[in-house]
Amino acid sequence: MSDVLLEATEVRKAYGPTEALAGASLRVRAGEVVALMGPSGAGKSTLLHCLAGIVQPDGGTVRYDGADLAGLSDRARSSLRRTDFGFVFQFGQLVPELTCLENVALPLRLNGVRGRVAAERGRAMLAELDLSGIEGKRPGEVSGGQGQRVAVARALVTAPRVVFADEPTGALDSLNGEQVMQLLTTAARDRDAAVVLVTHEARVAAYSDREVVVRDGRTRRLEAAR
Ligand SMILES: Nc1ncnc2c1ncn2[C@@H]1O[C@H](COP(=O)(O)OP(=O)(O)OP(=O)(O)O)[C@@H](O)[C@H]1O
Ligand SMILES: [Mg+2]
Repeated sequence: MSDVLLEATEVRKAYGPTEALAGASLRVRAGEVVALMGPSGAGKSTLLHCLAGIVQPDGGTVRYDGADLAGLSDRARSSLRRTDFGFVFQFGQLVPELTCLENVALPLRLNGVRGRVAAERGRAMLAELDLSGIEGKRPGEVSGGQGQRVAVARALVTAPRVVFADEPTGALDSLNGEQVMQLLTTAARDRDAAVVLVTHEARVAAYSDREVVVRDGRTRRLEAAR
């Protein structure tokens, strides 16, 4: 299909004797929200990292926008991660010494955007996500749910085409988890950004367009699409 943005084909990855991925395949279309589900150790995070060009597969291919990631230099891959991809992690991983606004502006600064412009865009992003008022606070001074919403703002501020989220609600209670998922999926859909989400929770996966089960390093599509 022509609108496939990201495509993993028969991806394999071993860590010593451990076969983390044993032929995993996945297609993500532009603007689509895909949830990767499956038991602990199944290879979900490894697949996410391969899709994002963070981990190099031993075999198979990952194509983004038609280009084989293995054919890019390390430098081109890291540049792609900064410009086209956004990331949300389980524990936010905000920089504790920076304010919430500085955290959101950071990916722009890393892309060479000047300080004042980056701050303006960060402020606008926080306002758009209903997070005004916490710009000057440090991550240690906001709640877990707020911190995770700041992490969503940081992931979206560069207008990425794909957001990768590894258990973004894993450290939150269910109410905060739902709010973060609502925010992440709505904001991504508004921007036509695809989301690849790893989660253990059916309630979180329910925010996706499609669920893919990873088991023993292989992907299995759930045909019952919502
Ligand atoms: N850097 C690494 N070094 C060695 N083994 C690894 C590494 N990363 C992953 N593994 C192994 O590869 C397998 C798949 O790990 P992965 O982290 O992808 O699973 P997961 O599905 O994300 O699990 P979880 O739900 O617990 O996060 C596991 O057996 C894990 O121990
Ligand atoms: Mg994992």
